[in-house]
Amino acid sequence: MYQTLLTSLENEILIITINRPDKLNALNKTVMDELNKAMDEVYNNPEIRSAIITGAGPKAFVAGADISEFVGLNKEEGMVLAKKGQELFDKIENCPKPILAAVNGFALGGGCELALSCHFIYASENAKLGQPEVNLGLIPGYGGTQRLTQVLGRNRAMELLMSGNTFTAKEAMDYGMVNNVVPAEELISKSKEILMIIQSKAPVAVSKIIQCVNNFDHTQQGYEFEIEKFGDCFVTDDMKEGTSAFLEKRKASFKGN
Ligand code: COA
Repeated sequence: MYQTLLTSLENEILIITINRPDKLNALNKTVMDELNKAMDEVYNNPEIRSAIITGAGPKAFVAGADISEFVGLNKEEGMVLAKKGQELFDKIENCPKPILAAVNGFALGGGCELALSCHFIYASENAKLGQPEVNLGLIPGYGGTQRLTQVLGRNRAMELLMSGNTFTAKEAMDYGMVNNVVPAEELISKSKEILMIIQSKAPVAVSKIIQCVNNFDHTQQGYEFEIEKFGDCFVTDDMKEGTSAFLEKRKASFKGN
C-alpha cells in the first residue's frame, strides 16, 4: 500500500514505520506524502484508536529531511517545503487520537521535529536527538524552533539550535522532552503498553485533553478553552458511563461518544 512506510494494526494501535533504512529513514517527498495519507487513516478509521510512529532498522528513527531534495531550491520553493512540512506536523499534533513517537535511534532535524509533533516520546537507550540544521547553513523549518522552545524552554533551545549539538535519550529525558528511555528491544512493547492504558479511558475525554494541552496558553484564553471542553464532556455518554460506573463500583465501559 505504501512505498516508504510499513503499517500494522495491533490492538487498535496503528504502528507506522518509516522504511528507508539505507537513508536512515530521511524524510523525502514520498515519505511526507505517505505520512500524510497514514495520518488520514488514523483520523478516519474507527478501528484505529492510537498510533506509534517509529523508524525501520536499528540505527535511526529519522535522520532528517532528505538533504538531497534541498539542492537548487529558491526562496519560494524553500518556503513551500517548510509550509507543507508544518501542515503535516500540525496534523499529527492535532490528531484527536494519541500519537506516540518511538524514537529508536537518530532523530535529527526533521526527525526531531517529527518526534516533537507527536503527543509524547518514548526513546531507546541508543537514541540521539538534535537540530543540526545550522551545520548546513539552515534552520529547522518543520516547526522545530517553536516546539523545541515550547518543550525545552528558551535558553536550552537557543543553545541546541545555535550549536547544532546532539543529545542523548537520557539527556532528552532530563530536559523533559522524552518521557521514557528503555532498551531498544523493549521500545515498541513499552509504547504499546502505555497506549493500551490510554485506550481503556474515555476516547472523547482523551481527545479533549489533546485539544486543551495543544491550546496551552499563559493567558486566560487557555483556561477559558478548558472550561468549554470540560462542559462538552457533560453531554457525552462516556461521561455518564464513567461517573455511573464509579458510583456503582464497577468498571466503566466506554463507547467513544
Ligand atoms: N538526508 C539524506 N540522506 C541522508 C540523511 C539525510 N538527512 N541522513 C543520512 N542520509 C544517508 C547518507 O547520505 C547515507 O547514504 P549513502 O549510503 O547513499 O551515502 C546513508 O543515509 C547513511 O548515512 P551515513 O552518513 O553514511 O551514516 P553515519 O552513521 O556515518 O552517520 C548521521 C549518521 C546521522 C550522523 C549522518 O548521516 C548525518 O549527519 N545525517 C544528516 C543529519 C542532518 O543534518 N539532518 C538534518 C537535515 S535538515
